[in-house]
Amino acid sequence: TYVVADNCIKCKYMDCVEVCPVDCFYEGENTLVIHPDECIDCGVCEPECPAEAILPDTDPEAEKWLEMNTKYAEIWPNITEQGQPPADADEFNGVTGKYEKFFS
Ligand code: SF4
Ligand code: F3S
Repeated sequence: TYVVADNCIKCKYMDCVEVCPVDCFYEGENTLVIHPDECIDCGVCEPECPAEAILPDTDPEAEKWLEMNTKYAEIWPNITEQGQPPADADEFNGVTGKYEKFFS
């Protein structure tokens, strides 16, 4: 599976939603997550994310995000169409530690 990591938080560009062939993204207020059981590992979303926030689960950093994606994909609603990113999305692109700062 692929996972959505820290840099999606507060950026939420949603280009990923447009390209996913199986619609396995789920939407929270500040970020999206991928449902690990639904992702078919096609990899199409990874280069589409302007924030480079999508990682394969083989990435050394992915473990924490796999846990987080798994948890919230069960709670948040499915998203199938790209919405409007936050107006200040670009200001948060590249800011580190967003999970700790903004995620409750
Ligand atoms: Fe969807 Fe493919 Fe990305 Fe998985 S890797 S979330 S199936 S676009
Ligand atoms: Fe997030 Fe990137 Fe998708 S910022 S919403 S993972 S395009």
